[in-house]
Amino acid sequence: MAGLRETEVWAAARMPLPRKKGTMEENRFESRYQTGDTPWDHGMVDVNLIEVVSALPITPCRALDIGCGTGGNAVWLARQGFEVTACDLSPTAIGKADAKARSAEIDCRFVVADFLADPIPGAPFGFVFDRGCLHCIEPEEPRRRFAAKVASLLGEDGLWLTLVGNADEEEREVGPPQLSASELVSAIEPFFEILSLVSGHFGSDQEQPPRAWICRMVKRRQAGPAL
Ligand SMILES: C[S@@+](CC[C@H](N)C(=O)[O-])C[C@H]1O[C@@H](n2cnc3c(N)ncnc32)[C@H](O)[C@@H]1O
Repeated sequence: MAGLRETEVWAAARMPLPRKKGTMEENRFESRYQTGDTPWDHGMVDVNLIEVVSALPITPCRALDIGCGTGGNAVWLARQGFEVTACDLSPTAIGKADAKARSAEIDCRFVVADFLADPIPGAPFGFVFDRGCLHCIEPEEPRRRFAAKVASLLGEDGLWLTLVGNADEEEREVGPPQLSASELVSAIEPFFEILSLVSGHFGSDQEQPPRAWICRMVKRRQAGPAL
């Protein structure tokens, strides 16, 4: 995986793109990373990722972590032998992620990018992961575009694992955005065949971790509807 040591600060290095509806998360997240208001960032690899990768198992391949935050899950994947690209809107998060990989002497490609608006290098991927990124996207139309873009970046037999806040739990004062099963399914099903949709919990350091949808899926052979 030589040559992957790079932080490509695309978004920061150019004039801002006109943003489409549903992609205006960057300022909110950037300021949260700057002030450390990031309760999801507990410093441990998400147990659901470990379980899925180890239990199937997923053979190391090119992997993408969307909305990777400070990179703990991406670095873990790279340690398992995956060739990892990871993107996030927040330059502060990507800076921390890159520092984490460097200090662990792990090769990962971290990119500052808006997943919906910017090109993502490294496709086709065999495995795509997102923990809490899809659920930040609203309303339904950009969520569908998110799913369509994941499908466009995955190889034919590639797998997407998404961890999404679960609306079957009462909304918390501080907690992830939540989707109902039908909201999640309606975004992904046109492009993906769902292999499993399980109600579980995010990996967390909290006594009562937030509930999550743990959804594994493969790309449909036929393209979904044009968006
Ligand atoms: C709840 S945090 C989860 C971060 C990381 N996956 C983790 O588990 O620690 C959601 C992340 O998605 C990123 N994000 C939100 N919308 C995004 C978009 N359109 N493109 C790229 N990243 C995005 C945020 O900056 C934030 O880091």
